[in-house]
Amino acid sequence: MPEFINIPEAKEIPSGKGATVEVNGARIAVYNLAGTYFAMDDTCPHVGAPLGGGWVEGETVACPMHGWEFEIKTGRCITVPRCAVSSYPMRIENGEVQICID
Ligand code: FES
Repeated sequence: MPEFINIPEAKEIPSGKGATVEVNGARIAVYNLAGTYFAMDDTCPHVGAPLGGGWVEGETVACPMHGWEFEIKTGRCITVPRCAVSSYPMRIENGEVQICID
């Protein structure tokens, strides 16, 4: 049964920005797109830069190190399609931002 976990620090992410958070020992990139939250693995598959610190433009984030672009909603890598990252369901429950990680 998938379990949702609170991410209290997600509420501090301004709209149109992302951040790196730690969930159960894993680094996760969380983005706030106009009040809807999305999450994917934080580690860029190129050489490991933190995607939570990337530049958000619309529904895309560019890696802060070399600029590979990823779709925030899916984790798909636009620059190198075989290099997608995993994305995770999120929800807001009782005012808490939550992520589902198996
Ligand atoms: S580490 Fe992300 S594009 Fe190079």
